[in-house]
Amino acid sequence: MRINLISLFPGMFRCVFEESIIHRASCKGIIEIRLIDLREFGLGTHRVVDDAPYGGGGGMILRPEPIARALESLPERGHTILTTPRGGLFQQEDALRLSLETDLTIICGHYEGIDERVNALFVDEELSIGDYVLTGGEIPAMVIVDAVVRLIPSVLGKDTTATGDSHYAGLLEHPHYTRPRSFRGLAVPEVLLSGNHQRIRQWRDAQSLEKTRQMRPELLERSLPETRPHDPGKKKP
Ligand SMILES: C[S@@+](CC[C@H](N)C(=O)[O-])C[C@H]1O[C@@H](n2cnc3c(N)ncnc32)[C@H](O)[C@@H]1O
Repeated sequence: MRINLISLFPGMFRCVFEESIIHRASCKGIIEIRLIDLREFGLGTHRVVDDAPYGGGGGMILRPEPIARALESLPERGHTILTTPRGGLFQQEDALRLSLETDLTIICGHYEGIDERVNALFVDEELSIGDYVLTGGEIPAMVIVDAVVRLIPSVLGKDTTATGDSHYAGLLEHPHYTRPRSFRGLAVPEVLLSGNHQRIRQWRDAQSLEKTRQMRPELLERSLPETRPHDPGKKKP
């Protein structure tokens, strides 16, 4: 997958994408991330990218021409996303859908946002990462890229799968334990030491349901019964 990130602050991405799983996926050639510096497409000798809003009001707006030029400089744009607090809420199902794209372009807004005409001309989808306002679209773009890339087959190691993670099938994941067996008076649940894989699976399924019930009960309404693990608390018909 090729991912184009259009930003006034491309340096913000480097430390995040040059570590861990995203970095490994780049090294293996599974993804190619291109950082496009919006400033290079700015107007005039001062490379201007923003201006005051028509109609007055505070703040600056990103002008359409530099963004259009940056987008038109790309050999392939693919699905084009604008990060914005007014967008649809980015969810795991969006990450899964976007992980099937071959080319993805994400525009990072800044200041008061971008000229609306960019939307009309170039944007396929507006995405928000939550109901709060950040300074710029760089962190939302990092969140989207991270969630999408780990769902591309072969990005996670062969011993790790995303299908058991929280939100993949609509529920939260079961709790995890590792060594030591006892820590400050708290023991690892006996079933996890039993070596009985069926009992362990049943315990994890039950814990997954219980955690969801406790922490995010509204997810139970949304999750499809056929994707849910068997609820041992309920009798089968
Ligand atoms: C300060 S915000 C602009 C907020 C805009 N004036 C508004 O009220 O919707 C600057 C940029 O940060 C990004 N941004 C801020 N919060 C975001 C969020 N929750 N999700 C996605 N992008 C966000 C967008 O790219 C936005 O253009």
